[in-house]
Amino acid sequence: MKRTDIVKLGLVGLIVLIVPMVYVFSQATTDGQSIDEQVESFLEEHRYSWWDMNVSGSDGKILYDLILKNNYKDALEIGTSTGHSAIWMAWALSKTGGKLITIEIDEGRHREAVANFKRAGLSDYIDARLGDAHELVKELEGPFDFVFCDADKGWYKNYFIDLYPKLKIGGCYTAHNVSDRRWRRMSRGGGGTAEFYEYVKGLKSMETTIDNTGDGLLVSFKEPST
Ligand SMILES: C[S@@+](CC[C@H](N)C(=O)[O-])C[C@H]1O[C@@H](n2cnc3c(N)ncnc32)[C@H](O)[C@@H]1O
Repeated sequence: MKRTDIVKLGLVGLIVLIVPMVYVFSQATTDGQSIDEQVESFLEEHRYSWWDMNVSGSDGKILYDLILKNNYKDALEIGTSTGHSAIWMAWALSKTGGKLITIEIDEGRHREAVANFKRAGLSDYIDARLGDAHELVKELEGPFDFVFCDADKGWYKNYFIDLYPKLKIGGCYTAHNVSDRRWRRMSRGGGGTAEFYEYVKGLKSMETTIDNTGDGLLVSFKEPST
């Protein structure tokens, strides 16, 4: 065997060794834990400490599944609070190679959310903005393939109207505390979402359903125009 062949073989061997190592290290956080391990232990530790109007774990898991299943990458949340739903979404986005912009008007909750994102190991996947979403949403360029609306219910329809042109075809618009059952709307803090629901349901370009397994989640996909 020639010397150059030995060098070539050596190089190939190195690549074969290095590529999997780079992959393994890229999945690891600074503590040497994988992102999955860090998020799972964070969520487990905080399972019973989401007091700030946060989604339940089961609704968080629905958001996670929607993002992962459809390989969404450009996500927006309106209403961060202390970050429970954002953590579920950003966890999924860490797998699809995406990122979440999340907006919160309350400085204390915003600060707590940012600390939670750090503890969960997800800061790199979240752009947390402090401000009034009534204004910030209009300024966002987009486009988005996933939106989760969970802020002031009376403004749901306005948020949707502002974001509809920025939602990609095949993208998904979700909104919390929306129900097709009147009694549920009243009992689950969804007062004010009825007009929004009727509006979205009436759009031919949106395929809209309600997931009633948790606190009522509107799930609406943007269809290709016919
Ligand atoms: C139901 S909580 C969000 C819960 C969060 N999605 C979670 O599951 O962890 C609604 C949040 O929206 C925020 N909010 C209300 N009006 C807002 C506005 N105009 N702009 C930005 N945030 C707003 C509130 O301060 C509150 O923290």
